[in-house]
Amino acid sequence: MPGVLPEGEPVPADGSLPATATRAVGARGFGVYVHVPFCASRCGYCDFNTYTADELGGGASREGYADTVLAELALAARVLGDAPPPRVDTVFVGGGTPTLLPADDLARILDGIDRAWGLAADAEVTTEANPESVTPESLKTLRAAGYTRISLGMQSAAPGVLAILDRRHRAGRATEAAREARDAGFDHVNLDLIYGTPGESADDFAASLAQVVAAGVDHVSAYALIVEDGTRLAARMRRGELAYPSDDVAADRYLAAEAALDAAGFSWYEVSNWARTPAGRCRHNLLYWNGGDWWGLGPGAHSHVGGVRWWNVKHPAAYAKRLAAGESPGLAREVLTPDEAHTEDVMLRLRLASGLPLAVLDDAGRAGARRALADGLLDPAGYAAGRAVLTLRGRLLADAVVRDLLP
Ligand SMILES: C[S@@+](CC[C@H](N)C(=O)[O-])C[C@H]1O[C@@H](n2cnc3c(N)ncnc32)[C@H](O)[C@@H]1O
Ligand code: SF4
Repeated sequence: MPGVLPEGEPVPADGSLPATATRAVGARGFGVYVHVPFCASRCGYCDFNTYTADELGGGASREGYADTVLAELALAARVLGDAPPPRVDTVFVGGGTPTLLPADDLARILDGIDRAWGLAADAEVTTEANPESVTPESLKTLRAAGYTRISLGMQSAAPGVLAILDRRHRAGRATEAAREARDAGFDHVNLDLIYGTPGESADDFAASLAQVVAAGVDHVSAYALIVEDGTRLAARMRRGELAYPSDDVAADRYLAAEAALDAAGFSWYEVSNWARTPAGRCRHNLLYWNGGDWWGLGPGAHSHVGGVRWWNVKHPAAYAKRLAAGESPGLAREVLTPDEAHTEDVMLRLRLASGLPLAVLDDAGRAGARRALADGLLDPAGYAAGRAVLTLRGRLLADAVVRDLLP
């Protein structure tokens, strides 16, 4: 969850939603996101809404956090109360560092979600975790509590790259934690990689990929390093201490990821995500990308129900204060116009291996799709079947293809 929130209209104090939004809630799946805004230290590249103990100040603490989230959950259950209660298909606890909370607090939050709405029998329940913040015991507690999936921020196998990224874990700890997760009974384990960090060599990235493959995980996310304004990393680059990432290097790294992961039996299902089997795909993220409904709990969390999108106040203290006063922590909301909904749909679904139905495009978009096909950016077989599916070259240029398919 990026740190900067957009503007919008105010959310009513009771958090209520227009009846048009709640009428068919969950028709395209219903998920719950829980944001945990705490980190032991801030990585120099990261602009997520997260706070170290020093930055937190008064009015919010890790100790009271689970109860504050449960208070928002009670409000959410009231708001959706008149609608047919949605079953929860997916839960994703992200951060920040969720595993800075005691595993028992993460268990209590999940139990609260189950009591509020009911978890589907086959629900996917993920928590993000930093490699140094889990132990075999905490992983067993999470598994026993009903978590089914762990997503670990590995970023790199190279000590020098981890140092530039200000990571706290030693090289080798992420894959060790992945093995501990599998031993604790997690069938679904993801490792996140970042590529294109200044100082990272092609060999460093090849070693990261080899270690990920050897760890036996069933999911990999690989992201090009984004230099976010206002971060320590951006300042170091501006001062000339570190080189800016290069697009050519990022493209080479992406091709290396595809080659290594494909050879190891992974398939891409979204531009930055690969899974060993269809069951290993992250259903929660697929719900976002396919326009499903979700309630985002926690400071700065975004929600989407029936075309209404809203986001919570950003600081944990302001969030706790609103809930203590019995008020919605929602800061602002917007009702998506048909044009905005279309733009979002094209941006998100074009990045999926399942592609975007050509039928949703207008005339100009279809002309754009024909050009992209002729340029080798869309797959001919997918196109013949009525879908815009990116080729490997198209995946490298996904943003440009999106622009060509939109008015
Ligand atoms: C916000 S983090 C939360 C997970 C956990 N705190 C961690 O860092 O291991 C989720 C993932 O986003 C990715 N990420 C965060 N900031 C990024 C950036 N500036 N560029 C590329 N990837 C980024 C990292 O791969 C990270 O694992
Ligand atoms: S640990 Fe994760 S969320 Fe925290 S600062 Fe680092 S990248 Fe961001």
